[in-house]
Order: sequence, then C-alpha cells, then structure tokens
Amino acid sequence: MKKRIVVAIDGPAGAGKSTIARRVAERLGFVYIDTGAMYRAVALKALRSGVDLGDAERLEQIARGARIAFEPGSSRVLLDGEDVTQAIRAPEISPAASRVSVFPGVRRAMVELQRQMGASESVVMEGRDIGSVVFPDAEVKIFLDADPAVRAARRIRELEEKGQKLDPAEVEREIRERDLRDSTRADSPLVRAPGAVVIDTTPMSIEQVEQAILNVIQERIIP
Ligand code: DC
Repeated sequence: MKKRIVVAIDGPAGAGKSTIARRVAERLGFVYIDTGAMYRAVALKALRSGVDLGDAERLEQIARGARIAFEPGSSRVLLDGEDVTQAIRAPEISPAASRVSVFPGVRRAMVELQRQMGASESVVMEGRDIGSVVFPDAEVKIFLDADPAVRAARRIRELEEKGQKLDPAEVEREIRERDLRDSTRADSPLVRAPGAVVIDTTPMSIEQVEQAILNVIQERIIP
C-alpha cells in the first residue's frame, strides 16, 4: 500500500497559498483542502444566524453543528448541503472568519474535521496552523510569505477578476488587521512551524513557487 502523505502549507493572507496548493495537489494527485474555507463557512453560518462574532459558546455550537464538506473532485464548499463556494468569498466574510477563528472551541471542531480529512488520503492542506497544530508530523511543511503590499495587490486583482471593485487602501488595511489578529491570537497563531521551508513569493511567479514546492517534496519524500 502506498504511504499516505501530508503536505502542509501555511502563511498569511494573499501569500498565494490557495492557488499554489491547488496546483501542487493536482500535479501529485493528492486531495486539496482549503482550511480557510472551513472557518469562512463557520463565519457565514454565524452571520446568517445572527450570532454575535464575540460569543464563544454560540460560535462553538455553530462550528460543531455545521456540516462542512468539499465536493469530491471539485473545490466546491458545501455547508449543510448547500454550495457556499461563492458566498464564503464575499468581502465581509474575510474579517468575520478571522474573528471566529480565535476561539479554541471553534478551532477544536475544525481541527478534528481536518484530521479526519487527512487521515486516510494523501493531502495538500493549506491554512495557518497545519504544520504547527493540525499535522505537526506532516512529511512536508511549507511556509509561504510575501511582502504585505504585494499580498494586497494580489488580493485586489483576484477580487477584480470576480467583478468586485474595492478601494486598494481598504484591502491593504483589512489584510494587515487580519494578519495581526491571526498571528497574535492565543490559540494556534500563525507561526513558521519547526521544520517548515520558508518561501518568500514576492518576486516569484506562480510556476516558480509551484516548482520550488515540488522540489522540496521530492527531496523530502523520495530521497
Ligand atoms: O485562508 P483564508 O484567508 O481563507 O482564511 C480565512 C481566515 O480563517 C483567516 O483570516 C484565519 C482563519 N484560519 C485559521 O485560523 N486557521 C486556518 N488553518 C485557516 C484559516
């Protein structure tokens, strides 16, 4: 039987994690798991239910009760059976997901689910705490980073491609705020996990980052 492998990719918003992780998973035939989408789904459910984003207890109930799944073979996100792939990308969901993700009860529920998802299949899983908390024994750990201005510019372009027009200064401010919250929270902050290979994607193309990661995987897994 082939060994099951975990590739953990962490980093701040706009570092290129989703694009790169999806491509690497496709190249390797691994399952791609976007854990940010899971916190986004919890935030969406909380907002729809009118739950205060500071109410730890209610948020944990929401996180435990939410049925979050990825449609096999696509990157569609299902929340209680509904396709919320578009809805979780609305601009107001980004700060909301960052806010709900500070609560240990919410994190416990998501981490349990993430460990189940990576238990039996080889995965490329991306987020903030994959190499540090979810799979500290991952065979490959990557930390993707980039200059904050470049990360904001990438996010603006991504949103523009989806037809959303936003003030660039506002997007940069939102990203900085979110990074600060994500990296200073008490439970599972964004950190460079021990053993993670750090890649600064600022001057790199998507193809170059993909190749750099494939090289690391090859070095670590097929010595
Ligand atoms: O990757 P993203 O921008 O879709 O993530 C949205 C928020 O979810 C992010 O600001 C922090 C939180 N998150 C987290 O706390 N842990 C993860 N593993 C992934 C995301």
